[in-house]
Amino acid sequence: DAGRVTVVGSLNMDLVIRAPRLPSAGETLAGRTFANVAGGKGGNQAVAAARLGAHVAMIGCVGNDENGAQLVAGLRRDGIDCSAVATDAALPTGVAMIVVDDAGQNAIVIVAGSNGALTTSAIAAHEKTIEQADVLVCQLEVPGETVFAAMRAARRHGRIVVLNPAPATGPLPRDWLECADYLIPNEGEASVLSGVTVDSPESALAAAAELREQGARNVIVTLGERGVLVLAEGEAGKHYPAPKVAAVDTTAAGDTFVGGLCAALAAKRSLDEAVRFGQAAAALSVTRAGAQTSIPALHEVPRWAD
Ligand code: RIB
Ligand code: NA
Repeated sequence: DAGRVTVVGSLNMDLVIRAPRLPSAGETLAGRTFANVAGGKGGNQAVAAARLGAHVAMIGCVGNDENGAQLVAGLRRDGIDCSAVATDAALPTGVAMIVVDDAGQNAIVIVAGSNGALTTSAIAAHEKTIEQADVLVCQLEVPGETVFAAMRAARRHGRIVVLNPAPATGPLPRDWLECADYLIPNEGEASVLSGVTVDSPESALAAAAELREQGARNVIVTLGERGVLVLAEGEAGKHYPAPKVAAVDTTAAGDTFVGGLCAALAAKRSLDEAVRFGQAAAALSVTRAGAQTSIPALHEVPRWAD
């Protein structure tokens, strides 16, 4: 029984270069390959939730250009409802310049473009799409006031609110943290949000505890190959080690985790099951190149694995 997930977030065309290593300042480095790949944290999480079993609707904004048309066509191929994806007449579709090294690590620079034109009026216009969802998920690649409006609308309707605070530029206000049922930062974001340097499950727990002090409910810190640290309301922290895989490209691993977790929560799975499911899906995505190209389908993921 599939649940419904609504995503409010970014759509980017990823301009991806594979290179032996990441360049340093002032350096010119010969890369190996170049590809355009559908990405954006919003789009990636929508695709992950859809491939991993949910009915998904996207609220976003592309430009009136080829990149935008390709991104929307890709979402539709994954069965995602794009009736709330607007086309901005003036701004180009968002892009991300990504370099991926031989270890599968990346460096990313994004230019928001039309993602910056997703305003609170889009949330007002598509409140039904939020009301009908079991889970609303947002990231921080669209304007903050839009994210906050979406989270408040979802709360008003008693929906589950998931916030992936990516990218994070500083601490979030208490009323933001109180709005989200699940706050899912990676280690860098957890450090920025909490002021606690996160480089281990132990420090992730300290950061999560600090975020709970600041108003967060359930905090899930993703730690890459070190797994996931969950601090749920009324419970002790719990560490979930990551499945061991050979990393090809970690791009969108976090998005796959978040999308998978949302699909599982929307299907009324427990948090424990949702975390393990998201981890299994994310581990598979790490073994493949690109953002949306790397996200697995439901039949590939060991279901609700131990
Ligand atoms: O999380 C990965 C994504 O971040 C990429 O697809 C890129 O578009 C950036 O938004
Ligand atoms: Na990947």
